[in-house]
Order: sequence, then structure tokens, then C-alpha cells
Amino acid sequence: MNDLDSLVDGAKAAFAQAATPAELENAKAVYLGKAGRITELMKGMAQLSVEEKKTRGAAINVAKQAVEAALQARRQALSDAELEQQLKAESLDVTLPGRRRQAGGLHPVSRTLERIEQIFASMGFDVADGPEIETDWHSFTSLNNPPNHPARSMQDTFYVDMKGADGIPFNLRPHTSPMQVRYAQQHVARHKAAVEAGGAMPEIRVIAPGRTYRVDSDATHSPMFHQCEGLWLGENVSFKDLKVVFTDFCRTFFESDDLVLRFRPSFFPFTEPSAEIDIQFQSGPLAGRWLEVAGSGQVHPNVVRNMGLDPERYIGFAFGMGPDRLTMLRYGVNDLRLFFDGDIRFLRQFQ
Ligand code: PHE
Repeated sequence: MNDLDSLVDGAKAAFAQAATPAELENAKAVYLGKAGRITELMKGMAQLSVEEKKTRGAAINVAKQAVEAALQARRQALSDAELEQQLKAESLDVTLPGRRRQAGGLHPVSRTLERIEQIFASMGFDVADGPEIETDWHSFTSLNNPPNHPARSMQDTFYVDMKGADGIPFNLRPHTSPMQVRYAQQHVARHKAAVEAGGAMPEIRVIAPGRTYRVDSDATHSPMFHQCEGLWLGENVSFKDLKVVFTDFCRTFFESDDLVLRFRPSFFPFTEPSAEIDIQFQSGPLAGRWLEVAGSGQVHPNVVRNMGLDPERYIGFAFGMGPDRLTMLRYGVNDLRLFFDGDIRFLRQFQ
């Protein structure tokens, strides 16, 4: 075997070894590059006679063509293999059944919120929406909380890394009660002209459902949960009205005419007197137990004043209930976290 034959064999072996296009280009440079073996052979002909140059030149050319052909063949083989792999990876079994488009549905808590809104709307209540990031004044001060009230502590309330005009960080509202003051202030502003012209201010009757936040997490508490605030304020609204409205609401909501309510004395800085509202089913799996569903009370005079109203003239009640808990009671769900896990197997049951 002469030197050219073994050079061609060597090139074929090197190309065959190259597993990728990049490796193949490297192998090519060794043989056909500017400083490659074949270029070197060409340079080596300088000392030969004219006659020898002819035969040697022709032989080198034949060898070069053989190397180029081998290179081309290997390039083709590599790209065929790549295509083959790609086709395999992207293969599609057209005999598989199609994927059905799933119909979405309302989250169980959304269903409850819609239901609450419908029932209160039927009793003449407006539905209001408000910010989840609140000022210290709206969440606490306006609601008659003393400056060092524990509800303000970082153990209970989430704070945002940004300060309000008062120099106090904004909070993620720990209840929907700030909406009492926000809505009342808007209501007062809306009716200002009419009142100044000697007319009477229409009663405030509103609910404000929405998300609320507290540093709390277990089977019955989630750091994000829902509340629905209620406020009825006028010149002659009494605790009796609260009892009637809330009893009506609960009986309609749970579709149970014999549902019993209990107003249990309690304390909130923004109501006086205050009461927790417990309900009791007379039949079904929860019958006979008192279940707490809301806080409530007569709006405190200081809060009425912060609304921009005269507490000697305007009086009324407020309540705050937990739609998550109402949903748990209505459907018999025992772990609040299921509502927020997003597990489709759980959520599908409510469709
Ligand atoms: N904001 C109270 C709470 O979160 C509930 C409440 C609302 C109590 C309105 C009285 C009046 O517990």
C-alpha cells in the first residue's frame, strides 16, 4: 500500500469515527485544511522534476477526490441519522383518541359569593369592591383601634414593603371592615349636594365581599381567605334589623327555614355592643351544634364620625362573615386548604 492509499484509509477511518457534524469538520481540517495532510503533500512536490510532478500531482488529486468523497458520504450519513432521530422523537400516533376540551366552572367559594350577593341584593343591598392593600388608617385607626392594638402586630397582619403618606407601611387588609368607612365616605360625598340643599341622606345599605389576609395557616385558617362585610346605616336602624336581615340571609343561604341563630356577646373595637353570630341546623349531619359564621354589632360612634357622619343622628349595624366557612358548611368540606390547592378532582365535584 503506498503513502496515498494509507492516507485515504486514514481519512475514511477518522471520518467514520466522527459522531457529530462538528467532529467531522475537525477531522476534515486534518486532511483537507490549509495546513492539512494533502496540502502538505502538494507543497512537498516542489523539489520534483516536471515529469515526476505530473504523475505525483495526478495521484495526489485522485487521493484528494477520494477523501472528499468519503467526507461527503459521512456528512450525508450523519444528517440522515439526525433526521431519523428527529422523526422518531416527533412521531405521532394518529390512532390515539383526541383530547377533549374541558369545560371550566365556578370555584365553590365563587358560587358562595355569588349567592351572598344575590340574597343581599334582593334585600336592597349594594355590592361594593375595595382595595386589598390598605392604609393603617383604613384597616385600624378609622375602625377605632387604639394605636397599640395587637391586631396591628406583625404576628397577625401582613405588611407591604412600602409606606403610606402617614409613614406607616401599607397592610394586606386583615378584614373587609375598612370598606365600611370607604363606602360610607363615598356615599356621603355622593349625597353631599342633596343633603346641603335640605334633603335627607339615603340609608347606607351595602355588602363588600373580597379577599383578606392574616398570618395564620392550618386546616381551618388560610393566610388568604374571604370575608364579606355588611353595613346598614340610617337614622333609625337597630339591632333588631340586624337580627332580621341576618336570619333571613342564613335561612335563604342554607335553604333551611328552621335554622336557628344565636347572637353571642363579644367585643370588636368598631362595634358597641358586639356579637358573634352562631347558627344551628335542626337536621342533617351538623344538627344541634352551634357554628360561628360572623362577627357583628352596632357601629361605634367613633367609626360613624370617621365616616363623616354625626353619630347622634346616624346609627346602624355592621357584620363580617366568612364565605369560606359558609362554603365548608354548605358542602360538608372539612379542610379549608382544599379550596386553595387547585386540585381539579376536588373542584370538579362542585360543577
Ligand atoms: N371585622 C371583624 C373580623 O374580621 C368582623 C366584624 C365585622 C365584626 C363587622 C363586627 C362588625 O373578625
